[in-house]
Amino acid sequence: MESLPLESTVFFIFGATGDLARRKLYPALYSLYCDGKLDERFAVIGLARREKTNAQFRDDVYRSIKEFARHQLKDEEHWNRFADHFEYMPLDIDDLSGFYKLRELTERMNEKFNILGNRLFYLALAPELFATVSNHLKNSGLLDSEGWTRLVIEKPFGYDLDSARKLNDQIRTVFQEEQIFRIDHYLGKEMVQNLEVVRFSNAFFEPLWNNKYIANIQITLSETVGVEERGGYYDKSGALRDMGQNHILQMIAMIAMEPPSRMHPEDIRDEKVKVLRSIRKFSSPDEVARMVVRGQYAEGTFKGEKVRAYRQEDKVDPQSETATYFAAKVYVDNFRWSGVPFYVRTGKRLPAKTTEVVVEFKNVPDNVYLAKKHNLEPNLLVFRVNPVEGIYIKFNAKNPGADFKITPVAMDFCQNCNIGINTPEAYERLLCDAVRGDSTYFTRWDEVALAWEFVDPIAAAWTEGKDRLIRYPAGSWGPAEAAELLARDGFKWWPVNGQREGELIWVAPS
Ligand code: BG6
Repeated sequence: MESLPLESTVFFIFGATGDLARRKLYPALYSLYCDGKLDERFAVIGLARREKTNAQFRDDVYRSIKEFARHQLKDEEHWNRFADHFEYMPLDIDDLSGFYKLRELTERMNEKFNILGNRLFYLALAPELFATVSNHLKNSGLLDSEGWTRLVIEKPFGYDLDSARKLNDQIRTVFQEEQIFRIDHYLGKEMVQNLEVVRFSNAFFEPLWNNKYIANIQITLSETVGVEERGGYYDKSGALRDMGQNHILQMIAMIAMEPPSRMHPEDIRDEKVKVLRSIRKFSSPDEVARMVVRGQYAEGTFKGEKVRAYRQEDKVDPQSETATYFAAKVYVDNFRWSGVPFYVRTGKRLPAKTTEVVVEFKNVPDNVYLAKKHNLEPNLLVFRVNPVEGIYIKFNAKNPGADFKITPVAMDFCQNCNIGINTPEAYERLLCDAVRGDSTYFTRWDEVALAWEFVDPIAAAWTEGKDRLIRYPAGSWGPAEAAELLARDGFKWWPVNGQREGELIWVAPS
């Protein structure tokens, strides 16, 4: 992130009392303030249906920062100065008159903080409300401003291709594509952004980055949490729409894309689109049954505690058939990746919170001297995205000593292991980018549409029910069938969340 302060901006947080604002947005704004990215020329207007005073709102913001921010709260004077930029206004989204009042409040805030008319409308709301908000913003004159106006929207962007297209068309009657910033917060993660840098700035990776040398790629997004308070949303969406349509496909695109000709947002997004277009779509429910495994967590134990089954979670249908886990084998059918399987998996209530990409290289030629005798392990390049941020390379070397033994060893670059290195959160980066008008790490409409084109046939096949939804105990690594996806090809899932001290010790999946 550039270190200059951002342009003066009013942040409108629609859904100001919601979980996302509390966990991510207020802490991110606070970090930006502490880091000097936000100087005194900004305002935050919190909007939600609920009645609340400014004092109550600021109190909520205070608590959210205390709990979730990367920066500790400083002294009272510092807090008061920050909190003074926050105002709350109860708003009924269906009622245009509220937007006129919002306009007056905005003008007051502009004046108070010397803001030149830049407006960032952040919709942390159900997508059904996007169109109404956009229209009311326009009709109330809130978009007639001397500065720029931008819309930031959270996922889910639709439920399938049709609904996403409808949503997009509605928003596009008010905003141009360049003004729309569709968040996929995985693109804001340090190590996801680092994928490009590592690939394109190192002579020793790029030449190997293709089907001649890579045997398979494994992407794991595992979570220990269940659905928490989001049962209502999640039961309709499930793992495929919640994590697959967006984060997983975006990660495939970042790993597989060609080097863009310029480091320009549209060139980078064009390259990602080419990858998404090359992903092979499943052509029948039978193929889905062969290539995708879906599961749902049953009762189990996590860290010695008993945890309930998905079907017992609040706001979840007790007969629910929603998948909380899926694993799939995906092909990118282009010149570079032809024949290389991308195995992906994600799930809730797994034993570890981890995001990792493992690149497994092909074996060296069968060589009498080494490979035959020593049963060599393949080379691995691991991108650790979360919770550890770093890069890990596993290769073979001779065991020291007289016995000629070959053993896998590791080189481990851990970016966030050193105390004091406190990397910005994804939302900090993305808020900064949106204010700067840099859309590189936001998803363009054609990316969203292509992602739905891949996901829709899977969702349809699941509805048809050719495969089965497999129950896995909470706290386990999911259905055993996910291992078969790889075993059929002679591969295995590499354990994730490996430990780094000393030699290579992988935490074996239970
Ligand atoms: C969100 C999903 O997009 O990503 C959540 O809706 C999930 O269900 C979350 O928990 C995971 O994000 P992270 O950054 O914690 O890996």
